[in-house]
Amino acid sequence: MRVGVLTGGGDCPGLNAVIRAVTKSLIRQGDCEVIGIEDGFEGLMGATPRVMPLDWERVSGILHAGGTILGTSNSANPLANEATVAQVKANVQALGLEVVVSIGGDGTQSLAHALAQAVGMQCVGVPKTIDNDIANCERSFGFDTAVATASEALRRIESTASSHHRVMIVETMGRHAGWLALEAGIAGAADVILVPEIDYDLQAIIDVCKAREQRQRYTIICIGEGAKESGHSQTVRQTIAGSTDPVRLGGVAHVLRERLQPHLKSEVRATVLGHVQRGGEPTPFDRVLATQFGHHAAQLVLSGQFGRMVTLQHGRITSVPIASVANSQRRIDLHHPLMVMARDIGICLGEA
Ligand code: F6P
Repeated sequence: MRVGVLTGGGDCPGLNAVIRAVTKSLIRQGDCEVIGIEDGFEGLMGATPRVMPLDWERVSGILHAGGTILGTSNSANPLANEATVAQVKANVQALGLEVVVSIGGDGTQSLAHALAQAVGMQCVGVPKTIDNDIANCERSFGFDTAVATASEALRRIESTASSHHRVMIVETMGRHAGWLALEAGIAGAADVILVPEIDYDLQAIIDVCKAREQRQRYTIICIGEGAKESGHSQTVRQTIAGSTDPVRLGGVAHVLRERLQPHLKSEVRATVLGHVQRGGEPTPFDRVLATQFGHHAAQLVLSGQFGRMVTLQHGRITSVPIASVANSQRRIDLHHPLMVMARDIGICLGEA
């Protein structure tokens, strides 16, 4: 069998671990020929497909490496028009691909699902994102690494905050879900954690900072990029025309700084962590999870279970129909145990 593998959407730590595991399993268990598609769906959209053979040697030694050896793209839309769909179909046929394993977030899974139907190929999905927001998946690889990076940043911010008696705001990624801000904030001992699922009340934050000005003399605020003040809108960094995911969030830490400063004696400073959260080596947890996901994707291919996405549910690796995750996001339930715990130990969630 000839199997294509692609990585789509924003990169994240652990992609190479999946590529390695799925390729090794397909070769060893199924004697398959594995073809890497470059830069996500973009590699199938041109007059000449951009691909690289994935053999045992090519995927050896990449377990720890950040990024993706295949390259990725989060703006390519293979369904943009009829001509593009026809080109993708011609490329899939010319390459003799029977199945494509698409490693990506909800956008990539939606595209893979629709494309498979449009061009008559089979697909198997593997969820990835540092946002941890894929429906029906309780943990995507890349998230643990991003939490580690962001919480380490919070710890470093704390020492300078306490030296200068400042209020420090640290912004994490995460799009419209607050998982990254919540877990990094808890692990990084933030006093205030603001997530997109709760429109924050400015006065509640002012009250915490003022109380701490009297005692600890510094405050750490961790805010997810999708969070917003009650009655205000999200902070959009950029809009990318033609992209399947056109809105890029970012900069809310600066917006909050402007709003807070007039009410406080302490200086308020903002740090936007940005892409540092997506780079670098995956943690051991993410290396193991990504390897399990890649291995399971190969089992789905070899047993002919197509149209399914590998997932983690109740701590077990399993799979769900791709259709059930396409175009939906997993956001934090306000009664999630981590939210309850945060409130109980006195972390302010920006609630009035
Ligand atoms: O979905 C992953 C993610 O890192 C989000 O957290 C963030 O909003 C977005 O991608 C950034 O995208 P880009 O790399 O295009 O700026």
